[in-house]
Amino acid sequence: MKFSTKAIHAGQQPDPTTGAVMTPVYLTSTYVQEEIGKHKGYVYSRVANPTRTALEHNIAALENGKHGIAFGSGMAAVDTIFRLLKPCDHVIISHNVYGGTYRLAKQVLEDFRLQFDFIDTTNIKLVEQTIRQETRMIFVETPTNPTMEITDLAAISKLTKRNRLISVCDNTFATPYLQQPLSYGIDIVIHSLTKYLNGHSDMLGGLIVTSDNKIAERLRFIQKSVGAILSPFDAWLCLRGIKTLPVRMEQHSKNALQVARWLTRQRKVKRVFYPGLPIHPQHKLAKRQMDDFGGMIAFDLGSFSNAKKILKHIKLCALAESLGGVETLISHPATMTHASVPREQRQKIGITDGLVRLSVGLEDVNDIISDLLQSFKKI
Ligand SMILES: Cc1ncc(COP(=O)(O)O)c(C=O)c1O
Repeated sequence: MKFSTKAIHAGQQPDPTTGAVMTPVYLTSTYVQEEIGKHKGYVYSRVANPTRTALEHNIAALENGKHGIAFGSGMAAVDTIFRLLKPCDHVIISHNVYGGTYRLAKQVLEDFRLQFDFIDTTNIKLVEQTIRQETRMIFVETPTNPTMEITDLAAISKLTKRNRLISVCDNTFATPYLQQPLSYGIDIVIHSLTKYLNGHSDMLGGLIVTSDNKIAERLRFIQKSVGAILSPFDAWLCLRGIKTLPVRMEQHSKNALQVARWLTRQRKVKRVFYPGLPIHPQHKLAKRQMDDFGGMIAFDLGSFSNAKKILKHIKLCALAESLGGVETLISHPATMTHASVPREQRQKIGITDGLVRLSVGLEDVNDIISDLLQSFKKI
């Protein structure tokens, strides 16, 4: 089956009891058993629920993976991946990851003696040099949130295989429609479902995909033990959203490229971060590794006061956290998504006080550009 067909059908058969074409929301915590040990595969909804199972099979199919495991948020999924490790284990991680991932590592997991090196994973030589005896995992986000750095997934996979490490890719920004990390040999893919996969800004969720049976078994065991599961209703919302993922991602990418090109022509914009622009430092790699460049753009207005002015006067674009919905969202990473990253570290990785992030939605692109233009006039 091709991608668009899988997006609509994978993991979903008509309901065997009623024939309902759409997977029902199974609002049940428990399941009747015929006799001790005899049941239909479901015993308790922390362990498994049919609506959640449909979503897990669906996204596993989209990523060309064997196992999908759905969580109550993207961060719950990230946390579960790190629970594969033991105290003193060392993780190499992209320096430009989502601020919540940075906060989890530095302010929660380091207390449990996990060790993290946040480095520039676009530099494969540096990644190799950072591997030490205790290293167990390389965790990359590509493109990164918010400066759109691209890491070479095939190179990371080669390196992890040679050193017997686990490779992880946060594929939230690209989605499986634009990039399939397992096909480059990455062991684990993680998503915040909250973003493009659901696509309508009305639920939170996370999902892990892997084809490694042992890793999947351990992750399921941790999930069952800890309980950070996705609710049946949220799984249903996300299943509904995914049916239009291909058409949404096509249009997000089209609109974003047009907005990014327009931004490069604005005198008030010092720098534009979009992998679809030839001026992007990893444009060639992005072209090779991704099928298109997605809907996320960051741009630098040179100062906090300029950023503040445009964010105050923006009308159509909503000033809000999050991304990946049908509506255009605009945000200020330094004070919002990445506020928990210390200022010095933020400066080092390009999250300046003048940086603004745009999640380009599916409105008419001329309306998005007009809104930006009227706000730029206030600077
Ligand atoms: C790239 C990336 N990964 C993970 C997360 C965390 O996901 P959630 O907000 O669903 O917990 C986010 C949230 O913004 C994100 O942008």
